[in-house]
Amino acid sequence: MSKEIDWANIGFSYQPTSKRFVAVYKDGKWNDGELTDDPNIVINECAGVLQYAQTCFEGLKAKTSKDGKIVTFRPDLNAKRMIDTCERLCIPPIPEELFLKAVDEVVKANADFVPPYGTGASLYLRPFIYGSGPVIGVKPSPEYTFRLFGTPVGSYFSGGLKPIKLMVSDFDRAAPCGTGHIKAGLNYAMSMYAGQMAHSLGYDENMYLDSKTRTFVEETGGANFLFVTKDGTIVTPKSDTILPSITRRSLITVARDVLDMKIEERPVSFEEIKEFAECGLCGTAAVISPVGMVHSEKEDIYFPNGMENPGPITQKLYDTLTGIQMQEIEAPEGWIRECK
Ligand code: PLP
Ligand code: COI
Repeated sequence: MSKEIDWANIGFSYQPTSKRFVAVYKDGKWNDGELTDDPNIVINECAGVLQYAQTCFEGLKAKTSKDGKIVTFRPDLNAKRMIDTCERLCIPPIPEELFLKAVDEVVKANADFVPPYGTGASLYLRPFIYGSGPVIGVKPSPEYTFRLFGTPVGSYFSGGLKPIKLMVSDFDRAAPCGTGHIKAGLNYAMSMYAGQMAHSLGYDENMYLDSKTRTFVEETGGANFLFVTKDGTIVTPKSDTILPSITRRSLITVARDVLDMKIEERPVSFEEIKEFAECGLCGTAAVISPVGMVHSEKEDIYFPNGMENPGPITQKLYDTLTGIQMQEIEAPEGWIRECK
């Protein structure tokens, strides 16, 4: 039985659920991990995460499918990306089987927080690893903790599928490690200033351009871009300094194989975006959120769909992807994992 929650109005915020998973890396190995009731963490003052920010996270969702099963979407890709991130941050990689066990156990233990089919809401899962052992010289922590909790969420942007407004600022996406292939290269704290500034000026998000030339489109603080040309081709930025979004990769497969559309993954100059018919932000949290306008110092660019409704292709991509995630539409092999 689902909890009595106003699923339509929960937004994207944290609400503690019943159980979370904890595993520890000590003496050269990860233990088997277990569920715990306690949402709080007691940590040494000199822990690697506190001193040198040795930490990383992932994000994925569990949903109720059309036939009432609880399912996750491509969690193996989150596990693999987390392993890549760990390697870059000198964190011992969390084995894929342990990651998937944590996903299944947390979802099962919090089944009453998984929104019912048809509500549009999800149980957002947040796996993260942090250096929990004390370290004072600049070097990797001697101990690590992996945790995974769930929190029920609705739309990332408060208007749901109402188009959002972006602002281009002169801030770097902040990839101080010199790579964005992995979450490690993305410094989320460094991106908050630009995001907060955009909010304070009435925009929903900041749009990052490439740090080197400030001429190519990168991504936003938490999502990749997908554009649609006037002749219906999907264009998405190719860049080594953006996160390889699982949602974007899935939407491209859906557009190509299910909707029979043409795809171009290539550098996208900011100058050309005014020629596009539609623009969307894609990510686990954002799904695909339509963009209505982009503000830059030079000009305001409005996409033809306007500020009330998504464009037709964005809507189609949204419906098809969420349809696959809820098993209304047949999923490609291996995309859906039932939490049994
Ligand atoms: N870009 C950034 C910076 C993100 O943090 C995220 C979400 O984690 C994404 C893009 C979207 O990635 P995914 O579709 O794998 O959630
Ligand atoms: C996600 O889409 O899962 C993200 O991680 C984006 C954001 C909430 C950080």
